[in-house]
Amino acid sequence: MNGIIFFKTRKLAEVTLFYTRTLDMTIWLEQADCRILQRGNLLLGFCQRDFVDTQGTITIFTENREEVDYVYSLLRERADKEPVFNKTYGIYHFFARDPEDRTVEIQWFDHRLSPYRSGSDLLISRRSIRSFTSDPISDEILHRILDSTRYAPSARNSQPVYFVAVRSEDKIRKLANVRSAAAPIAKAPMALAIVADPGISRRAVQDGDIAAYHLLLAAWDYGVGTCWIADMDRPEVKQILNIPDHHYISTVTPLGWPAESPPIRERRLVSLKNL
Ligand SMILES: Cc1cc2nc3c(=O)[nH]c(=O)nc-3n(C[C@H](O)[C@H](O)[C@H](O)COP(=O)(O)O)c2cc1C
Repeated sequence: MNGIIFFKTRKLAEVTLFYTRTLDMTIWLEQADCRILQRGNLLLGFCQRDFVDTQGTITIFTENREEVDYVYSLLRERADKEPVFNKTYGIYHFFARDPEDRTVEIQWFDHRLSPYRSGSDLLISRRSIRSFTSDPISDEILHRILDSTRYAPSARNSQPVYFVAVRSEDKIRKLANVRSAAAPIAKAPMALAIVADPGISRRAVQDGDIAAYHLLLAAWDYGVGTCWIADMDRPEVKQILNIPDHHYISTVTPLGWPAESPPIRERRLVSLKNL
């Protein structure tokens, strides 16, 4: 299920400018005398009327603390006070007023959250993470990630993929030493191998790689960091993990809570040939 919160407004144009220019919302849908705005998974509808709804608080939460300060610098004139840390809720936030005096709260949660990102935000925000906190990934989180990964496509729905979770420090160290580019594995509290059995699928390589990328995205949905480590389909890795020689290892990713938030790496513009 999805949803929209609607407000009546007397100043549709001014309110639109406020939420789009200052709060970076975009117009999601125009509907006669209503306009629905979007940011991430937040949908706000405003309908031109002779009276105004101002009840409630519109809370927008950011990915990091710095973004709260940045939005405050844009909204200073409309803000009640500077951003503060609120210990009761574990949030960093401030309140401001929109052009019709609705309360708008900008906040950042100083703790982990269940998945909340929209699909497009998930795709755009994913990063390779190579530095992790020492906090373990609980079995519950691991199983939720693996459960989402079950929905990866596979040839003829053959589902030849299985996973090997590695928490042994000795094995993690050995995996990280297999090649220099595998070093991030040693930084995480655990590693996860994504493996496909060619006895189950004739397309085991594609099935394994697709499932592995599905897993990277599912992990990110839970705020868990991963990094694709290439060229791990090797005899020495299979020996460490007790995997049959003929099975295909897509990747062995480190898995942990990110201790870094790398900026987006430069991307080329889309290359599209129309024939
Ligand atoms: C096929 C493939 C192989 C990769 N191999 C490695 C690797 O061996 N070690 C590593 O640290 N990162 C590896 N990466 C991660 C890339 O460096 C990373 O995806 C790229 O720099 C873009 O950064 P981003 O994932 O944060 O957007 C690999 C990624 C892919 C898709």
